[in-house]
Amino acid sequence: MDIVIRRTADQALRLAAEIIANTVRDKPDTVLGLATGRTMEPVYAHLVEAVRDGTLDLSQVTTFNLDEYVGLPPGDSGSFTGYMQAHLFEHVEVPAENIHIPVSAGSDANDVCAHYESDIEASGGIDLQVLGLGLTGHIGFNEPGSALRSRTRTKALSDITRRQNAAYFGGVENVPERAITMGIGTILDARRCLLVVTGHEKAQATAAALEGPITASVPASALQLHPNCVVILDQPASTKLANVGYYLTTFANEPEWEPYRKAGF
Ligand code: F6R
Repeated sequence: MDIVIRRTADQALRLAAEIIANTVRDKPDTVLGLATGRTMEPVYAHLVEAVRDGTLDLSQVTTFNLDEYVGLPPGDSGSFTGYMQAHLFEHVEVPAENIHIPVSAGSDANDVCAHYESDIEASGGIDLQVLGLGLTGHIGFNEPGSALRSRTRTKALSDITRRQNAAYFGGVENVPERAITMGIGTILDARRCLLVVTGHEKAQATAAALEGPITASVPASALQLHPNCVVILDQPASTKLANVGYYLTTFANEPEWEPYRKAGF
């Protein structure tokens, strides 16, 4: 794991967006795994800005979102389909047939999950999986107790997660109780993972995920098994880590980060 700490959330999120953009610049038909949530909103804004500036072209990418609430129609403003439209797809050219979100409204959820796995496989597999971290330590909607080799399936959301997402629904009582989510095994199959975490409230979950034991009780800890995982944190999210000094040397010294240092990130 390459753990990079930047002082502010803005610096961390700009760097995350640049990593995604550079992946697509290197391979225009990149298969991207995408996350939703508050952390990702500025990341998508930076990508939209790069497309508008003419420094990024997303027209050949294929995307697979991590998750979607069970039963919510794509037009629902709380749905992740609505989120992706509002924050990315409405503003950039990605062919509709290249966009995948596990929408279950009007279909059998188990069929949707099985098709999702086969669609990912048919695409050649995910090149870069972007991830946020839940307060429970979840990635996707793999809540604590999720099998470390799980595949795309429906999952009940924890109360903490439903409260975390209440603002999108005007109250916790309106947040759906279940979601379809890529499994932890599905996520670990991606060629590269990019975990992005900001904010002091995530410091505990961050430390448990990055430095604690690998356990189903902290689903994100499974990323310690991934051979090519980059973690971008802001300083507040890093405050409960033991090895901060070492992580700070990564961005400062490692040759892989030199182009980013030179570009002022
Ligand atoms: C969303 C997702 C979740 C979020 C996580 C962080 O697609 O998969 O794992 O990434 O809950 O959400 P925010 O960024 O809102 O704190």
